Amino acid sequence: MSGDAAGTATGAAGSPAACSPAAGSHAANSPADARSLDAVEAAAWAMLEEGARSRHAAFHRMSLGSFGSGGFPEVRTVILRDADRAARAVRFNTDRRSPKVAAFKADPRCSLLLYDHEAKVQVRLKGRVQLHYGDPLAARLWSEMRAFSKSCYGQPVAPSAALGPEGGVGAENTEESGAGAALSAPPLDDRQSFANFLPVMVHIASIDWLFLCAGGHRRALLCYGDSPSRTWLAP
Ligand SMILES: Cc1cc2nc3c(=O)[nH]c(=O)nc-3n(C[C@H](O)[C@H](O)[C@H](O)COP(=O)(O)O)c2cc1C
Repeated sequence: MSGDAAGTATGAAGSPAACSPAAGSHAANSPADARSLDAVEAAAWAMLEEGARSRHAAFHRMSLGSFGSGGFPEVRTVILRDADRAARAVRFNTDRRSPKVAAFKADPRCSLLLYDHEAKVQVRLKGRVQLHYGDPLAARLWSEMRAFSKSCYGQPVAPSAALGPEGGVGAENTEESGAGAALSAPPLDDRQSFANFLPVMVHIASIDWLFLCAGGHRRALLCYGDSPSRTWLAP
């Protein structure tokens, strides 16, 4: 690890950060106490569970990487909606019309990156997605969802679709306004919106955990699957 990265483990006043639990971290599963690989796994899942539970948690947002169709890796932000330690899976929701869905049909492998600045913990997940089209899970989640959240899936224009010159700002419903007019079209009804709603489960293949601490960074790799393994790594 570079000196710059090590420097991120210093406190606000420039003094080395003590390896004590950050405010809000779970005392029983705090990164500072994660001195065994079992404890690292428990701490990682506790942070993922908290990320799914609280929109204020640093782990509520994840960077999702996939294989892009144009030859470039694609990365975008998604919200962590569920973390299931027993199933070794996390979930985000998306619109089935979005380009990432087509990419996942071609290759279900993905990476997820999460960083908690307060806790000084980075987690990198690798896994495979499972797309839950209109199945009982999707139906249950839809029935529990607030109208405001549902409205995201009721936009007539698909995510990432190119818009006309007026874009999404003040588009008038004229023939000339092209795709911009679609944004001012009435939202889709509940059945059509549900058809766009796609819960995506990521079955975790590995967890790469990095804890920055002035007293010594700690990094561990936990691999699941047919031949599970776990090891400390050089940070
Ligand atoms: C804070 C934030 C949260 C987001 N959450 C989601 C999400 O949970 N699901 C999603 O599909 N897109 C989400 N997005 C939008 C994506 O980052 C992305 O722009 C969109 O899904 C289109 O991605 P694609 O073209 O790679 O399919 C979020 C964006 C931001 C900035």
